[in-house]
Amino acid sequence: MTLAELKQIFISKLEKCYDKNEIEQLFLIYIEDKLNLTFNPSFVIENEENIEKDILLLQEYKPIQHITGKAFFYDDFFKVSQHTLIPRPETEELIELIRNNHSENDTLSIIDLGTGSGCIPISLKKIFRNANVAALDISNEALQIAKENAKNIVNNEITFYENDLLKDINLAEKFDIIISNPPYIRNLEKQEMHKNVLEHEPHLALFVDDNDPLVFYKRVIEFAKNHLNKNGFVYCEINQYLPEETKELFDEHFRNVEVIKDISGNYRMLIAN
Ligand SMILES: C[S@@+](CC[C@H](N)C(=O)[O-])C[C@H]1O[C@@H](n2cnc3c(N)ncnc32)[C@H](O)[C@@H]1O
Repeated sequence: MTLAELKQIFISKLEKCYDKNEIEQLFLIYIEDKLNLTFNPSFVIENEENIEKDILLLQEYKPIQHITGKAFFYDDFFKVSQHTLIPRPETEELIELIRNNHSENDTLSIIDLGTGSGCIPISLKKIFRNANVAALDISNEALQIAKENAKNIVNNEITFYENDLLKDINLAEKFDIIISNPPYIRNLEKQEMHKNVLEHEPHLALFVDDNDPLVFYKRVIEFAKNHLNKNGFVYCEINQYLPEETKELFDEHFRNVEVIKDISGNYRMLIAN
């Protein structure tokens, strides 16, 4: 079968599940990240049986990154699994915000709370080469993946902690930068979510109680009270529907708090110091 024929098969088998642009994207990611090919329509491929199985998985709304086993984030491919959130483009904007706010040569100490695949600390370690970078998560399975990514991308130069952010944490160090992209989606927002997220991504990474949607931000602030150096910064990804509430919460504890829109025009980032 040629790649042009495979593309037609993707379209005909997936058109009930995804729109045209999504299928185009899935096809390109599949041939590049799974088959290690670029799109040459006349190129003949083998191993059709495995490809058929993968198309069935896509029909079941399995995320393409779970099929290829990796996701591109900022500058690198990160291994992902059902235990890690698939890194999102919005979070790349958080990395860019931090990059623009600090000097790349500074000797910073940095920690990421709720690290998942490790995409945030690893990307920052590549930018801030002199930084001491740490990361924390409650999920042992996620930490195993993050450690693999740290080994592959930054030669293990990240310290990992397995801790529950909802409980008191006492680390010996303090940090110049605390970052968190914590769970922030309320159950009431589930109806707007795609099946491939709802049915395949870890709910531990995504959802919070409708009655206490800022619970993790409260814990980030508690953590910062004991672990943020004087003049340090907190950066968070935030729920686009709760920017005012989230800002008010941080206003109670920090002098300068700003919420910032992402490229789609949604309030998505918070910076406090
Ligand atoms: C939204 S995901 C972010 C993952 C990654 N930082 C990213 O941006 O792709 C939130 C992360 O918080 C972790 N998490 C959830 N509850 C936690 C808790 N109580 N303590 C520590 N980490 C927690 C999840 O395992 C998940 O990896």
